[in-house]
Amino acid sequence: MSIDKILLEAKNLTRHYRLPQAWFQPPALVRALDGVSFTLNAGRTLAVVGESGCGKSTLARQVAMIEQPTGGQLWIDGVNLSVLSTTNKAQLKRVRPQIQMVFQNPATSLNPRKKIGTILEEPLLLNTPLNKFERIEKSHAMMEKVGLRREFYARYPHMFSGGQRQRIAIARALMLSPKVIVADEPVSALDVSIQAQVLNLLMDLQESSGLAYLFISHNLAVVEHIADEVMVMYLGKVVEHGTKRALFYRPLHPYTQALFASMPRIDSAQRQKISLLRGELPSPLTMPTGCAFHTRCPYAIDRCRNEVPLLQAFDGRWVACHRVAEISV
Ligand SMILES: Nc1ncnc2c1ncn2[C@@H]1O[C@H](COP(=O)(O)OP(=O)(O)OP(=O)(O)O)[C@@H](O)[C@H]1O
Ligand code: SF4
Ligand SMILES: [Mg+2]
Repeated sequence: MSIDKILLEAKNLTRHYRLPQAWFQPPALVRALDGVSFTLNAGRTLAVVGESGCGKSTLARQVAMIEQPTGGQLWIDGVNLSVLSTTNKAQLKRVRPQIQMVFQNPATSLNPRKKIGTILEEPLLLNTPLNKFERIEKSHAMMEKVGLRREFYARYPHMFSGGQRQRIAIARALMLSPKVIVADEPVSALDVSIQAQVLNLLMDLQESSGLAYLFISHNLAVVEHIADEVMVMYLGKVVEHGTKRALFYRPLHPYTQALFASMPRIDSAQRQKISLLRGELPSPLTMPTGCAFHTRCPYAIDRCRNEVPLLQAFDGRWVACHRVAEISV
């Protein structure tokens, strides 16, 4: 599949949660995901980074269709899923397997009472007309592909190491030949020594089958290893989005700069201007006005407190900051 082909497109994707309040109070609104747009091409990896609570997993759940967004659109391979979910259930059932999810912790995402063979064959049983023999063949082939021996077929998840379990979870996600994998912190629960093996497996699988990854991680070293593009989120919004090279060498949004301050790649002239992240992430229930980052930003001016900055093209990437032109000098 050509890497120029847009596989996935999110347009203004939004997920707000209503929290019940005390009597006579209007329900509180958590703006966990607040108008996120991006495209993802075949064979490419878009990494999503940001502090805990900035909406990464919420984005993952909307893209993997585990939840229904409260606004915006999601397109896969030219099909608008947001419309299908209410109008054409049969087509939705056909399209849905094209996006699969890999979770952080394989110890909880794999059913401990089912053997590996059963876990791998379940998606085939539910979604394809393959007979038992064909299902076994396919699961054996997939086990080989992810580096698991065939004799593991009849074993239970608890009989495996963390790295092996994550290989099983990846194999399960691949059984229906998806086009997009949403991976939410897929190596964070693994020993550091095993992380590189699982990342390399993901990269090999991508090369052989043109898979696209939406890859969520708080670990910038992991992101640097696997990503083509990086999208930085703050309180449910994208603040900067560009190639890995652009963001790792020359982050421009003050939040990206603070987040990436520890990275050795940042050029030394710019490093001197970077200030470290101060203060706590505000609650998404009481979102700051204007630029949500203004309560922590060393460059904040009155305009930042009153006017929401839009994501705009600047210096080969997208940035949402009123003062980016001055900051980047
Ligand atoms: N079901 C829900 N109901 C209400 N609020 C929610 C729900 N799910 C998430 N949130 C809130 O939305 C915000 C974003 O949460 P999310 O889990 O997406 O963050 P995250 O970036 O994945 O964080 P982490 O790095 O800790 O995994 C948080 O403030 C969270 O409390
Ligand atoms: S818009 Fe203002 S507060 Fe927001 S990041 Fe830019 S300078 Fe800082
Ligand atoms: Mg999360």
